[in-house]
Amino acid sequence: MSQHDLLTLDAVHVSYGPVHAVRDVSMAVAPGEVVTIIGANGAGKSTLLNAIAGLRPLASGRILLGGRDLGPVPAHRRVGLGLALSPEGRRVFPDQSVRDNLVLGAYSKREGSRQVEARLAHLFELFPRLKERRQQAAGTLSGGEQQMLAIARALMSEPSLLLLDEPSLGLAPMVVQDIFRIIRTLRDLGLTIVLVEQMASEALAAADRAYVLETGRITITGRGRDLLSDPRIRAAYLGVH
Ligand SMILES: Nc1ncnc2c1ncn2[C@@H]1O[C@H](COP(=O)(O)OP(=O)(O)OP(=O)(O)O)[C@@H](O)[C@H]1O
Ligand SMILES: [Mg+2]
Repeated sequence: MSQHDLLTLDAVHVSYGPVHAVRDVSMAVAPGEVVTIIGANGAGKSTLLNAIAGLRPLASGRILLGGRDLGPVPAHRRVGLGLALSPEGRRVFPDQSVRDNLVLGAYSKREGSRQVEARLAHLFELFPRLKERRQQAAGTLSGGEQQMLAIARALMSEPSLLLLDEPSLGLAPMVVQDIFRIIRTLRDLGLTIVLVEQMASEALAAADRAYVLETGRITITGRGRDLLSDPRIRAAYLGVH
């Protein structure tokens, strides 16, 4: 942990009543890093991301963004501080057009429409498929396109830190590759990303560093590429025995 970290978690606990979903998690993310959190179903990955986004209260511990304690900052104001979440299950508005879904992503900053138009134009360059379908209802998009939309919507607030919760969930292998290509492009553009994934091999390959979460605790941490060849990871998460 250093004073230059963009995101710092210090002994974070999150509970649902008696269920201790996240226990004593400390981690740090430097500007420009892609950090992945991998773990099995129910390990606490979404709970941790939602706590960072301000959607779940902490039972104890602290979360800092650029050195600032986020404790008193509600979720919608965290967006203004540069945090954006692309949630598990995508959560696009099915009856709204692609374009309207994107514009909704920008609203939290209440900016003038010229800035919103400029961001739309930029995102349509990154996601040409969304540009082609901008007038189409989001619910008629394929799963992969909806995932692209969920990521693009999060990017509309011009975050410094993007939180991605299982972007590959339920997608065909070729589409998963498209999603990871986008993640690499965003990394190359200098965005800092925390990526939660069950697709451990792809996530570790795309990430600078990784944390393994097991029943709410971090059990292993290291460089993404190093963990790809770690026997513990290979046996438990990559299906190699
Ligand atoms: N709203 C809730 N109320 C009570 N318990 C919950 C709630 N949401 C999650 N949990 C519990 O907290 C633990 C962590 O769940 P979480 O959704 O964070 O895991 P996850 O790692 O994201 O799993 P998945 O890979 O299935 O998305 C699980 O034991 C889960 O049953
Ligand atoms: Mg989850």
